[in-house]
Amino acid sequence: MTATTNPDITHPLSGERIEELQQIAGDHLFMHAAQTNDWRGKLRVYVRGEGVWVETATGERHLDAMAGLWYKSAGYGRTEIADAVYAQMTAIDSPPAGSSTIPQIELAGKVAELYPDHGARSFFVSGGSEAVETAVKMAKKYSQLKGKGGAFKVISRRYSYHGGTAMSVSLGRSPAADPMGPEMPGALHVTNWNSYRLPFVGDPVDVAIKCANEFEEVIKHQGPETVAAMIAEPVSAAYGIQIPPAEYWQRLREIADKYNVVLIADEVITGFGRLGEWFGPTNWGVQPDITAVAKAITSGYAPLGAAIATKKIADAFIGGPNETFRHLITFGGHPIASAAALANLKIFEREDLVGNSRRMGTYLYEQLQTLFSHNIVGDVRGGLGLLAAVELVSDRKSKSPFPAAAGLATKMPKMLFDRNIVTFRAGDVISLCPPLSINKEEIDFIVDAIDGALEELEIELGV
Ligand SMILES: Cc1ncc(COP(=O)(O)O)c(C=O)c1O
Repeated sequence: MTATTNPDITHPLSGERIEELQQIAGDHLFMHAAQTNDWRGKLRVYVRGEGVWVETATGERHLDAMAGLWYKSAGYGRTEIADAVYAQMTAIDSPPAGSSTIPQIELAGKVAELYPDHGARSFFVSGGSEAVETAVKMAKKYSQLKGKGGAFKVISRRYSYHGGTAMSVSLGRSPAADPMGPEMPGALHVTNWNSYRLPFVGDPVDVAIKCANEFEEVIKHQGPETVAAMIAEPVSAAYGIQIPPAEYWQRLREIADKYNVVLIADEVITGFGRLGEWFGPTNWGVQPDITAVAKAITSGYAPLGAAIATKKIADAFIGGPNETFRHLITFGGHPIASAAALANLKIFEREDLVGNSRRMGTYLYEQLQTLFSHNIVGDVRGGLGLLAAVELVSDRKSKSPFPAAAGLATKMPKMLFDRNIVTFRAGDVISLCPPLSINKEEIDFIVDAIDGALEELEIELGV
């Protein structure tokens, strides 16, 4: 692990120091999407990490089965990323306005090399929400430039998550979002794909096509000249790791082409190897028009995102003042973050993390099947890279969830944590998104822990 001169990182920290940190946090820190009363005085503080393992201020080791918040793809403790950041920061941390730096330029080239359309152009931002905002603004302006001046509507899927900013919360309609008053004008929503509880009766492929066709119905109903974009995640993590059949995205592509609507893939979670390919829709032979990425592009070592436009989209912005994309984010593509991204992607290539995602994803999915020995396991989803879910039900036949009073949302994370597994999303659905560098033994550790936790849960619930 990294040698450091920060005295707080030489640990275990003293009890006094930990108490002091808890006090400051309890009084002054907003934890994101969390109730202060739930964590005050017992906030988990991590001080170091290596590979898939993280260590608390008191010296306990846990396996991070969520890769941070879906981002720590290269794993923890990569000192070469720190070295690249240090070198850039001491050379020039950020350039004068209107200019660029070597890592930013090189990163644009590297992304185009990895992206299926090698003519792609990246608009760098600071994170996922900004990447989605940028993609949507780009799609609207592109539509205007291509003669659809009145196109402002954007179609997304219910229960998806596309970000926390004021526009992106209008997309997806996450039930977990705070009420914000009127949504972005033109935000339209269609049925999301759900492989476990099919939204319509029928063969799964037919149902997937029917779900995709809802985009077409909305476009026709609203008038194609008013619709700028349609957006979806290749696999919806927010909706419980929902992997569609290949025909779903292929149909989305056909519809977008038919009505000249920009197809945006929100790959903030799935981009850069999570689904066993550098970019998710490659699994189905589909090329979106714009791809929103963040998280794994730096493995979370620095905040960075991008809207990656295909050459066809990007070229529309080359011309005169009218064609200029007048969009600006001060710290978008910050040189420090770009340097981190380049060093991170170098690790991906050297260690074949995308291939490992594919191989270990298959292994994880196979091992998770053993959990069907527990009657409360209703479904196991995965097998397409290292993104998986175990869904718990009170009755396998009816697929009925447990009532809220059963307390799965608090019990499951605790039972897994007691077995040294950190999760973020564990309740009815246990989501798994480990670093792409994970090995078989570490996967066994996760599956054994879930097995033990389910046994304990069954005893506690008396089922
Ligand atoms: C699919 C998807 N899109 C967008 C976002 C927003 O990204 P950020 O939190 O970096 O703004 C997230 C965040 O988890 C996400 O999962």
